[in-house]
Amino acid sequence: MTNNIIIFIHLAAAGVAIGSLTYTLLLFLPAMQKIPQPKTAEEHSVSYKAFETLAPTVFVCVIVLIGSGVYYLMENYANQVNLKAGYYNLFGFKMIFVIAAFFLSVYSAFSLRTRIEHLDLVPENRALVPSVLKKMQQLGVLSLGAIVLAAFCGVWLARF
Ligand code: HEM
Repeated sequence: MTNNIIIFIHLAAAGVAIGSLTYTLLLFLPAMQKIPQPKTAEEHSVSYKAFETLAPTVFVCVIVLIGSGVYYLMENYANQVNLKAGYYNLFGFKMIFVIAAFFLSVYSAFSLRTRIEHLDLVPENRALVPSVLKKMQQLGVLSLGAIVLAAFCGVWLARF
């Protein structure tokens, strides 16, 4: 039962991370770019609001994935001795994508996003908004790739 709960949490976090990145980067923002946007302050633009919530959402999902993944291994460490050769090679390969996703999400949520926060208090940072949002978009695509590849390795691990 514990394993079912852990894997449910692991899969739910992967689903939210992949779903929110896919929806925002591949569906919502391209659709919004096709309609003329009213001239408003940078912090009221659609892409600003989208990345303001996307970056912390993905970060929390990656943390939940790491927490639930480590907890799963701790719960099942006694069974790990009977695994087929190659399981931990695949696990190590998956960790490369997990580490990439972790650092990309930390950089987006805590470095890029904070550079364009509180624009009413630091109005000089308004000039940074277009370049920071573009960078967040590019890193978001990389995060999506890393998380999808980590999920693929995870599905493979579960059936190894
Ligand atoms: C971006 C991060 C991650 C994603 C997207 C991800 C995704 C997945 C997915 C989709 C599965 C398949 C579950 C199933 O089909 O039952 C899985 C399995 C697994 N994950 Fe992750 N995972 C991530 C991070 C981690 C981390 C950090 C660890 C451990 C430190 C971990 C450990 C595992 C293990 C051990 C399994 C196999 C469970 C089994 O053998 O049944 N995962 N993962």
